[in-house]
Amino acid sequence: MRAIVVTDRAAGTAGMKLVERPEPRASTNDVVVQVYASGFVGTELQWPETWTDRLERDRTPSIPGHELAGVVTALGYGTTGLSLGQRVFGITDWTRDGGLAEYTAVEARNLAPLPGDVDFTVGASLPISGLTAWQGLFEHGRLRAGQSVLAHGAAGAVGSMVTQLGREFGAYVIGAGRAADRQKALDFGANEYVDLESEALEDVGEVDLVFDAIGGDIGKRSARLVRAGGTLVSIVGPSEARPADGQAVFFVVESDRAQLGEIVRRVQDGRLRTNIGAVSTLDDAVATLNPTERHAGKTVIRVHP
Ligand SMILES: NC(=O)c1ccc[n+]([C@@H]2O[C@H](COP(=O)([O-])OP(=O)(O)OC[C@H]3O[C@@H](n4cnc5c(N)ncnc54)[C@H](OP(=O)(O)O)[C@@H]3O)[C@@H](O)[C@H]2O)c1
Repeated sequence: MRAIVVTDRAAGTAGMKLVERPEPRASTNDVVVQVYASGFVGTELQWPETWTDRLERDRTPSIPGHELAGVVTALGYGTTGLSLGQRVFGITDWTRDGGLAEYTAVEARNLAPLPGDVDFTVGASLPISGLTAWQGLFEHGRLRAGQSVLAHGAAGAVGSMVTQLGREFGAYVIGAGRAADRQKALDFGANEYVDLESEALEDVGEVDLVFDAIGGDIGKRSARLVRAGGTLVSIVGPSEARPADGQAVFFVVESDRAQLGEIVRRVQDGRLRTNIGAVSTLDDAVATLNPTERHAGKTVIRVHP
């Protein structure tokens, strides 16, 4: 099968190559998915799991692209819950090969059915950004209606989901990010926007929840904005500063079939709009993933026409 592989950690996305690889086999409780589309998170090649397995052994050449949509073509020993020919979407394990390939093997529990009226490209854009927003807001951030959320990177893949879900559940959402992204964040439903390049973050005042998709100095300064009893949720790494009288949580998203169902239902009925920046083919994937200009939003590679 054809697949994008990486072997050289120092080379970053420039080291990606389109090559022939053996087709994967379904292990116990796995399915093999014929990949129709795969999403790529811009930081994947910085994740240790892209390079080593759970015992920290080299696992290159590895295939990135950790969210996908496709069709089940094989079931592993004892696999239940999904069937041959079923449309699915979800997250591939961090320490196994991903979706930038014609086929991939995934634990069935990491996938959910993809309804027939949702395009594979849209399906592949949702799992990581949708689940991260859902889990950050509702599980880790314990968001309640009437609270305020500061959503960093509000025009990005995760941030646009945070903004929309936050609004749907009755929060007041202050988006933050680049000057150029103001209108996009407002279009996703942010009540207001802070241009982090030229406006003072501190003017936001106190918020109940900070959802930090940027980190660094922005994350540190944001900790001071958390109201007593509130939460700083970071998805970029353990927080360098904690709220004085609140919680700081860093988490890595987990696949969850029921939550994937909640997300895709919202896409079907129009409550949630996906944020796709660039779509390309497997043939053009290396060039698309090495852009000469900025791609705002999720990059999706359409693997199967
Ligand atoms: N822990 C988890 O489970 C998890 C899950 C998903 C993602 N993540 C991480 O979360 C981060 C965001 O992911 P994503 O897919 O949403 O990426 P994304 O689509 O690139 O969104 C990030 C947004 O933040 C903006 N931004 C970045 N640095 C900024 C700065 N210093 N000032 C103002 N705006 C800035 C970006 O603008 P530009 O594009 O112009 O830089 C972009 O609009 C990544 O680091 C990713 O690895 C973690």
